[in-house]
Amino acid sequence: MKAAGTRCSDLNRSTIQRYHAGRSGGEFPFPVADIRLRGDFRMAPAAVARETGRMQLQPILTEAAAIARGAGEIVRQHFAAPTPTKLKTSRIDIVTAADTEAEAYIVRELRRRFPDHHIVGEEGGGQGAPAAEAPYHWFVDPIDGTVNFASKLPYFCTSIALATPDRQPLLGVVYDPTRDELFTALKGEGAFLNGDPLRVTDTAELIDAVIASGFPYDKHTNPDNNLKEWAAFLRRIRGERRLGSAALDLCYVAAGRLDGYWEKDLKPYDAMAGILILREAGGIVTDYAGEPNPQREDRGRYVGSNGRLHAAMLQVLQGD
Ligand code: IPD
Ligand code: CA
Ligand code: CA
Repeated sequence: MKAAGTRCSDLNRSTIQRYHAGRSGGEFPFPVADIRLRGDFRMAPAAVARETGRMQLQPILTEAAAIARGAGEIVRQHFAAPTPTKLKTSRIDIVTAADTEAEAYIVRELRRRFPDHHIVGEEGGGQGAPAAEAPYHWFVDPIDGTVNFASKLPYFCTSIALATPDRQPLLGVVYDPTRDELFTALKGEGAFLNGDPLRVTDTAELIDAVIASGFPYDKHTNPDNNLKEWAAFLRRIRGERRLGSAALDLCYVAAGRLDGYWEKDLKPYDAMAGILILREAGGIVTDYAGEPNPQREDRGRYVGSNGRLHAAMLQVLQGD
């Protein structure tokens, strides 16, 4: 990945310089084209308009935020006494009445407002207009962090994103109902927490970093269960966290509460909103190989960082 003899800190420095110079180069670990930093690298309004077909996104964000808050209210009402209703892929993969109720509410509200859009919900699958005909696709996770929710641990959220049919996120909303924190982003317009702009940390070395991750639901049986990567980071960073909600973890990197995050086997509805929020806060999101579109995979491998740490995180994940 990196040029022979190049130290990690040198690589980071040249990575950042290249971002700011707007060039890509030989040892650059991932394509620059899709990586958005704020400032010079934020998408020009004209380019966003081209991708969105000039659809006005700001009013849609207002609607999506209201729907996320409505879902949060449903989830909050269940929180004192969460009711597990069934198992999904295994005994540890549960769904509660709140997941189903909140998703039904979100899907109903989205269909009413956007009847020609396709909606992918975690619990209900594809709904609304057929995917092949719809100009836009919504990705909905009614509760990201269901294991926390069902254990009355207050770290979970509702995540809603609007994307192009080829899964480029345009708008993201993540709402944490226990803290009343609403993370939002529009492509090219920055990221916000309850209306205040977000910015990633400037931590430059892994030893100073706090980084989160998660484990897949087949961790008991799949040998590729993230333990090797967890151990590799453990030896290199200040603090490692398994907080339990991929969407919030990405938002926490955006908010400067974490320096980085990685996880395998995430679904598009886990991460679509968080990716945009983190990129719009100045961060970088790629897969483990440094490619910029993990959300195109149904089970993607995600690395999100403040940008400065990205090359070093990729090196750890690639076993260097
Ligand atoms: C899960 C959470 C968790 C992550 C899992 C996800 P869910 O989503 O985001 O942090 O480790 O990979 O599936 O099941 O709570 O919606
Ligand atoms: Ca999820
Ligand atoms: Ca969920």
